[in-house]
Amino acid sequence: MQAILIGFMGSGKTTVGRLLAEQLKTKHIDLDNLIVEEAGQSISEIFAKHGEAHFRKLEQQILSKALKLPGILSTGGGTPTIPANVSLLLSSKAPIIWLAASNQATINHLKNDTSRPLIKDLNQDGLLKLKEKRFSQYEKIADLTIKTDSLTPLQIMQQIKEWLLRKDR
Ligand code: S3P
Repeated sequence: MQAILIGFMGSGKTTVGRLLAEQLKTKHIDLDNLIVEEAGQSISEIFAKHGEAHFRKLEQQILSKALKLPGILSTGGGTPTIPANVSLLLSSKAPIIWLAASNQATINHLKNDTSRPLIKDLNQDGLLKLKEKRFSQYEKIADLTIKTDSLTPLQIMQQIKEWLLRKDR
């Protein structure tokens, strides 16, 4: 894996990952999409029918396989909150890039979202508490943090690309 994107739900991991992979002429791998393909069910269906623990088990199995592939990996917002996943992410040696959005931007992005089972029953307070709880889990493993608020997905991609090039020089 050339780079791994982490961050809270709605932070742009999938969009930026796709752009970055296009730019670097490599594959984009979206962990949630792989889980959906493997399970033959949407994320909401997996949570509703089998529960979060089952989703996390699938997520870990598929993460372990995905990390062996070349490309840019967009993780799910909860991926780095599981210690075994953190070990897998760190042992891959790929640079970990955290897309960090402000509370306001996160609320704006997620307020009408119905596709994410973890937040569908949360009010604004609950959402921000979950985000707060995850902050240190993202911070701990990030090699690069990008504050995304005033940036477009293209600008975020460009910053990551330049950082990757500088790093390898
Ligand atoms: C989750 C985030 C989702 C998805 C699942 C759980 C989380 O991915 O993996 O709904 O725990 O934050 P996105 O961050 O792409 O929404």
